[in-house]
Amino acid sequence: MVMWVFGYGSLIWKAGFDFDERRVGFIKDYRRVFYQGSTDHRGTPEYPGRTVTLEPAPGHVCWGVAYKVSSKEDQQVALTYLEVREKQYDKKEYVDFYTDVNASSPAISGVMVYIASSDKANINYLGPASVEEIAKQIVHAEGPSGPNRDYLFNLEKTLLQMGCEDEHVMKIAEEARKLVSDVVN
Ligand code: SIN
Repeated sequence: MVMWVFGYGSLIWKAGFDFDERRVGFIKDYRRVFYQGSTDHRGTPEYPGRTVTLEPAPGHVCWGVAYKVSSKEDQQVALTYLEVREKQYDKKEYVDFYTDVNASSPAISGVMVYIASSDKANINYLGPASVEEIAKQIVHAEGPSGPNRDYLFNLEKTLLQMGCEDEHVMKIAEEARKLVSDVVN
């Protein structure tokens, strides 16, 4: 059995594991939101950053990429790696992945995706805030994986390269650019 992994955040531009195929597409009934706090990658326990998670949203779609991992050995290595990298994401779901907006049946079923839920057990969950607040937090946060703003701008860039205009991401990136240029000028 091959394994497929769906990425909608940093996994889009950095898989970090060996894969045999990469496909651009979307999943249904979820929305990408900057609601997860990051104390291990893009922030610290003292000043958490924000990374994206998925919020259930009937009727919405979330664009991203699906990676195919074929061999048992590669799957083992990828899972071990992802369980550490995505350790602040408390849920793993198996979803349908589509590549064609007109298709009613999925291109791939059972694609694994990491989600940071709003459950109490997810101690790093931050939840909704205004665009201004989210942008401000991101501009000031930095963690072991680098500045939080790089995550935001990389996400915006790679989504646009895929032809996806994600309003939530673009609004926060726009606000973050203003804040950054205010600091510089
Ligand atoms: C993902 O990329 O799919 C999960 C969230 C992240 O690591 O940015």
